[in-house]
Amino acid sequence: MKETISALLGEQVTKEFYSAYLYLAIANWFEENDLGGFGGWYLKQAEEEQEHAMKIVEYLHDNGQSVQLGALEAPRPEIGCVRDAVAAALAHEKYITASIENIYAAAVAENDYRTQVFLQWFITEQGEEEKNAEEMLTKVTRYGEHPMGIYNLDKEAAGR
Ligand code: FEO
Repeated sequence: MKETISALLGEQVTKEFYSAYLYLAIANWFEENDLGGFGGWYLKQAEEEQEHAMKIVEYLHDNGQSVQLGALEAPRPEIGCVRDAVAAALAHEKYITASIENIYAAAVAENDYRTQVFLQWFITEQGEEEKNAEEMLTKVTRYGEHPMGIYNLDKEAAGR
């Protein structure tokens, strides 16, 4: 594997752990605001992000690469209301999608076919995550003004 690809994948490991950390911060905000349904949903997202990071770590190991772990920044999302929290999650997923696509483009440029195949799972997963986040944002925007609207959306998030 080319060093550029290995380095990009290493950076992605840190980004995925940061995603987990950000989702934990968002989950904390919901828990502190007594919206445990949303809180549980974002805790689940935090767990999934750690799995994504470990998938990449394993891939690097399987290909004889060393993994340079980066420092994790403290997430400080500016959340003043439910909509801010959900919007922060969507914006972050878009950032992660762009990051994955950037590695894919590098893998194409380097004729690294194995990494292209490996990244396809992440490309599909990002589509799914963006869809979920968009859907949540649409509903919160439409129905979130009303206290019962948020109450019902919180119940819905608990069942997801
Ligand atoms: Fe693993 Fe949602 O990015």
